[in-house]
Amino acid sequence: MMLGRISPPDSPFRAHARWQAHWCTALGSPFTAQLCTLVADRLDPATPLGRRLDSWPGNPQDDALMLRVTGGLHALVRAGKAPALAALYPPAPAPDPDALWAALAPVLAGKAILPWLDSAPQTNEVARSGVLVPGFLTIAAETGLPLALLELGCSAGLNLVPDRYGYRLGTLEAGNPDCGLRIHPVWDGADPPAAPLAIESRAGVDLNPLDVLNPAERSRLLAYVWPDQPQRLERMARAIAITAEDMPEIVKGDAADFVEARVKPREGVVTTVYHSIAFQYFPPETQARITAHMEKVGARATPAAPLAWLRFEMTPSADGTDHADAPTLRLKLWPTGEDRLLARAHPHGKLVQWLA
Ligand SMILES: C[S@@+](CC[C@H](N)C(=O)[O-])C[C@H]1O[C@@H](n2cnc3c(N)ncnc32)[C@H](O)[C@@H]1O
Repeated sequence: MMLGRISPPDSPFRAHARWQAHWCTALGSPFTAQLCTLVADRLDPATPLGRRLDSWPGNPQDDALMLRVTGGLHALVRAGKAPALAALYPPAPAPDPDALWAALAPVLAGKAILPWLDSAPQTNEVARSGVLVPGFLTIAAETGLPLALLELGCSAGLNLVPDRYGYRLGTLEAGNPDCGLRIHPVWDGADPPAAPLAIESRAGVDLNPLDVLNPAERSRLLAYVWPDQPQRLERMARAIAITAEDMPEIVKGDAADFVEARVKPREGVVTTVYHSIAFQYFPPETQARITAHMEKVGARATPAAPLAWLRFEMTPSADGTDHADAPTLRLKLWPTGEDRLLARAHPHGKLVQWLA
């Protein structure tokens, strides 16, 4: 009798891994897609990893389970702990699936990936500063004041130092051109206002902040970037170095507690609360408390002590059940409290359609 390849029974995890492969392909990461497909098709269900994944108690999709596995694999490769696999990782040419599986199977059969299942992937996309900064420039132009930045869901704090990076936004050059990092989204529309980007102070909050001064946490942040996105990896490594030069204040805690404790308009600055692809992860009670506090203190804002709320977030669909279209950049600025759509943009900031 000929023994074929192991053909494991399908499980919610395997279906999720195939879905993840589809999205990796659609987002331009064919190598990561290949990893997902191989795991879905060939992971031995009798290994400790196979057992845990196939009997995952939660929803594999909600828990981004496959990306926990790819993050763990990338971390091992980056640390030099899986040399046979590393030889097939980008920038090597796309490997033959059987050759890749031959290098992958022993790693998956061991225990090294298991700890990566215990926590959700955590990212911090610095290219989102290329979407936020045009919003900050709009706030600066309209108030004529320096910004006091308060970021909610700031992760490692890479978007808390937007003034340290360089930008090309349409035809406008902004920020610091000499830092070795230039954020240059594909731009559609008029240029944003050419105001000076003066930051008076900066602080952020995250439920689970990553400390870029800690080598293990730094490696973790880089491991979640897909290995076939070298530009993103390079950009993040540079942003980590720039942020670490002078760490901004990052508070560990819930965003609503931070907003209630810290958001109060002050004379001479525009108090600027902002967040990118974070609000949807806050519990409904946190979202409601943030909104209530912003409205309450917004009512006390004056032209000399204004309040801004800049949000780069997914847009709920008309029936409120899902997210429709591209994420939007919206600005609510008090004392008027007018709320405006400034832009639509790619979720990672690759493309900005400036509408203001
Ligand atoms: C998808 S990440 C986005 C991180 C960052 N804003 C960016 O654009 O790269 C969402 C962040 O929200 C944080 N988060 C989730 N719930 C939170 C809460 N209740 N309060 C504060 N931060 C929270 C997570 O820890 C995570 O770092």
